[in-house]
Amino acid sequence: MIEAHDLSKVFGTVRALDSVTVSARRGTVLALLGHNGAGKTTLVNILTASLPPTSGRATVAGLDVVRQPREIRQRIGLTGQFASVDGRLSARDNLVLLARLLGADRRAAHARADELLELFALREVATRRAGTYSGGLRRRLDLAASLVGRPEVIFLDEPTTGLDPSSRLGLWEIVEGLVAEGTTVVLTTQYLEEADRLADSIVVLAAGSVIAGGTAAELKARVGRRTVTVALDDTDDPRAAVAALRRSGLEPVTSPADGTITVPIDASREMARVVRALDHVGIEAAELAFAEPSLDDVYLNLAAQPTPSSGGPVR
Ligand SMILES: Nc1ncnc2c1ncn2[C@@H]1O[C@H](COP(=O)(O)OP(=O)(O)O)[C@@H](O)[C@H]1O
Ligand SMILES: [Mg+2]
Repeated sequence: MIEAHDLSKVFGTVRALDSVTVSARRGTVLALLGHNGAGKTTLVNILTASLPPTSGRATVAGLDVVRQPREIRQRIGLTGQFASVDGRLSARDNLVLLARLLGADRRAAHARADELLELFALREVATRRAGTYSGGLRRRLDLAASLVGRPEVIFLDEPTTGLDPSSRLGLWEIVEGLVAEGTTVVLTTQYLEEADRLADSIVVLAAGSVIAGGTAAELKARVGRRTVTVALDDTDDPRAAVAALRRSGLEPVTSPADGTITVPIDASREMARVVRALDHVGIEAAELAFAEPSLDDVYLNLAAQPTPSSGGPVR
């Protein structure tokens, strides 16, 4: 459904995307994971034919993003910064208007609007002006609006950023429902948890480049594990601690910023292994912190990891 090869985008002196290659099969979810400024929106803009690439090529549903921009825009749904919801109109009027713009007659437009209001649990607020909605409601309406034309592929640019946990969960369930019906979804996110929950494949972007990719399971096996972070007393030697942890089969990574040692673990009981390994060399951790993986861990671990072709560890 989506094929992009070697896409680059340069804005003046900024290389927003650098030789990015991604693909997604029909009916799957592709997550573009990265911090602010990683290039996610630029990539979405190119794939939705809103922005031409500086170089490289891409097709969506077999259509070329440079040569067939209008056809692509007719086939896709897009939410995010270009969302087409008018805050002065009610949810129902917005959806009816969009359906009419897409060529539905009056009756079909109302039917489609009612269907989407139901699906997105917006019926109770359907006649209120969209401008008065909370963030979660607004996000649901944005998504509903992008689906009016029954697109085969939808692009969601940070659909849950800034949402409270229950609105986020509601949106995830809606996306899962769409995928179950065969829709292809491309979403951008800063949350590893979101990519993990929704995506069939994940591409990690940093400063315009793809730094990792694969299924959520593959990525987590490499980087997104739970971690224990150990802070030592000034009097203890971090190198002795790292060596002791390695000897017990763990894979410690030292943070250059603050000297703390982070150890990926598979189960919380492995925390004890960390403590025992240190105890064995007479080191007592000043602080121990347990954490679920975040995007920062992905970056930290990827940066500390050798590329698969470069041989042994270089930590
Ligand atoms: N229209 C533009 N003009 C100049 N620089 C831009 C423009 N759009 C994005 N950038 C730059 O490109 C980089 C990637 O931005 P963006 O794609 O918005 O990242 P993300 O969506 O991951 O936060 C950033 O450094 C950003 O400042
Ligand atoms: Mg963005």
